[in-house]
Amino acid sequence: MAEENVKKFHLEGECELRFEVESENEVTLVLKSGMAGVFGTELVKGIRYVFTTGSKIAVFTWQGCVIELRGKMDICYIAKDTPMVMYLNVHEALELLRRKAELANGRGPVTMIVGQLDVGKSTLCRLLLNYAVRMSRRPIFVDLDVGQGQISIPGTIGALLVQRPAAVEEGFSQQAPQLVYHFGHESPSTNLALYNMLVSRLAEVISKRMQANRRANASGVIINTCGWVKGDGYKQLTHVAQAFEVDIILVLDQERLYHELVHDMPTSVKVVFLQKNRGVSSSVFSV
Ligand SMILES: Nc1ncnc2c1ncn2[C@@H]1O[C@H](COP(=O)(O)OP(=O)(O)OP(=O)(O)O)[C@@H](O)[C@H]1O
Ligand SMILES: [Mg+2]
Repeated sequence: MAEENVKKFHLEGECELRFEVESENEVTLVLKSGMAGVFGTELVKGIRYVFTTGSKIAVFTWQGCVIELRGKMDICYIAKDTPMVMYLNVHEALELLRRKAELANGRGPVTMIVGQLDVGKSTLCRLLLNYAVRMSRRPIFVDLDVGQGQISIPGTIGALLVQRPAAVEEGFSQQAPQLVYHFGHESPSTNLALYNMLVSRLAEVISKRMQANRRANASGVIINTCGWVKGDGYKQLTHVAQAFEVDIILVLDQERLYHELVHDMPTSVKVVFLQKNRGVSSSVFSV
């Protein structure tokens, strides 16, 4: 049942306000007081943020805040259970590795995020990149999801040197990508050999560019993958890990995938299991 009109929400610390914009409608969000962010991007008090049809948003606050929402929503509620502290710990661990890399003039952490469809992979990438760039890092975002990438159009893979936090409404799509490869299909399975070849090529070019940019090199890479994790999908993930010489694999939600990777990856690769945020749901908008 749709809800309309203006509503004010008083959020306590470490809570999130989740809402979904109803079909053919938009919702306006204003931060009235306190501090809050959307997937790691800070909201500015008093600014109107407009979300369009199908948007599924979570406004998280560490300290507490007041939010005003205007418009028709399919769903809207405050949740207290979020794995945000866990995600922040991951960011802290990556930051430690970046600091070490900086001192040694070496390569920062190359992190790959894996999991089934709709477990929050793209959202976690955005969060970690936003946290990194807010600490004055310049991480490279690699999006290998040819179905729903955040960097360019469907059917492509690409990379972006992140220089500022994602826009609240549009994410990273406003920042010009540095590298995009055309694959031509929305699933790697359509032509796995070509997909793997493009991944290897992208990894090579990024590695060279990192060697030429000390700050980006120390900041490391965050790699988003698609939700194809079984059979050839799993092999494709191991290919990505090898091509990018990843240091860390964050596995969202699926213990079986976690154990498979722990078993198959060399010991130098740290595989970490993370809970999914329970607010994450199918990103395909159903009318
Ligand atoms: N905490 C949250 N509360 C509500 N919605 C959320 C939350 N986190 C993410 N979402 C929404 O859930 C949807 C799915 O998340 P996301 O796209 O990150 O998953 P994914 O694993 O990358 O999916 P896919 O496998 O399709 O690429 C998105 O629309 C996102 O905006
Ligand atoms: Mg995704």
